[in-house]
Amino acid sequence: MGMTKVNVKDIDWNNLGFEYMDLPYRFTSHFKNGEWQDAGLVEDSTLHISEASPVLHYGQAVFEGMKAYRTPEDKVQLFRPDQNAARMKKSCERLLMPAFPEDQFVEAVKSVVKANIDFVPPYGTGATLYLRPLMIGTGSTIGVHPADEYIFTIFAMPVGNYFKGGLSPVNFITSDYDRAAHRGTGQSKVGGNYAASLLPGDEAHKQGFADCVYLDPVEHRKIEEVGSANFFGITKNNIFRTPKSPSILPSITKYSLLWLAENRLGLKAEEADVFVDQLDDYKEAGACGTAAVISPIGGLQHNGKLHVFYSETEVGPITSKLFETLTGIQFGTVEAPEGWVQTV
Ligand code: PLP
Ligand code: COI
Repeated sequence: MGMTKVNVKDIDWNNLGFEYMDLPYRFTSHFKNGEWQDAGLVEDSTLHISEASPVLHYGQAVFEGMKAYRTPEDKVQLFRPDQNAARMKKSCERLLMPAFPEDQFVEAVKSVVKANIDFVPPYGTGATLYLRPLMIGTGSTIGVHPADEYIFTIFAMPVGNYFKGGLSPVNFITSDYDRAAHRGTGQSKVGGNYAASLLPGDEAHKQGFADCVYLDPVEHRKIEEVGSANFFGITKNNIFRTPKSPSILPSITKYSLLWLAENRLGLKAEEADVFVDQLDDYKEAGACGTAAVISPIGGLQHNGKLHVFYSETEVGPITSKLFETLTGIQFGTVEAPEGWVQTV
């Protein structure tokens, strides 16, 4: 079994989007009889599971997203992988899944990067090796109960830009739908949140927008996040502000930018309400996340009106500075705060 493996010689490093590729190796481990077992690298990129697997019926699935970066010295490094391990553990707890031990998680990620090292894009292309840790409930538990068996896997693929613009601005539109409820699963990186975002995302795409921006599920007055990234704005009086909400994903990129905005750019930085009827307070805005990196938001359409932040074609100076600082740390050309990067 298996699909067609990609040949490293066929990869055009400068023109990668965000597309699956079947690389030589992935890590897998199986949870059976109350423990994780058979941990190691495998070549088979397909999974064989029971038709009664809870993941297929009831969405018992959590995942993570992280990247490996090649430095100018040809070292390969991870950005805050301990944070992904910790978040995956929390997501697992929300869906009653047995977390994969956090220290072994980071080691497993490193083993996947090492096994596919030729697929870590060259420094200077801006491309990275995206890693997708995934856990699903398997076994034959047809009732609405947690699975008794699980598969944990980490696969990888080289990626370029997630949003087509890269570091040029793209436009977003607010959605009438909610992504998640305040006391629901919005904080957890669970598959169902993304299933729920497909229709709103599709409606945004059909109207020519990069994606939609969700509003708070109670009053629809405050910005929550983008379907696949957090939101930030720079106020006219130089505050880096990003929404505070119990139903958004605690983005590792967002927390990194909060710290960098304050400690490297000298801005005030806060998690606070971002009211959709007060967009005039902001001179720049962006979407941030592992896949999105920092994607400048040109304009945000709400109730039929397009609000342009800095420009629909140019990137604002603070957004640019944040991008340079963040990606400089990730690619090893800007000094990283203690513990933020780990060499593979
Ligand atoms: N929000 C959502 C809904 C996401 O899927 C992601 C991606 O992981 C993010 C935000 C950004 O999180 P992070 O910066 O940890 O990648
Ligand atoms: C990420 O940024 O890693 C994500 O998971 C976002 C998206 C591709 C679902």
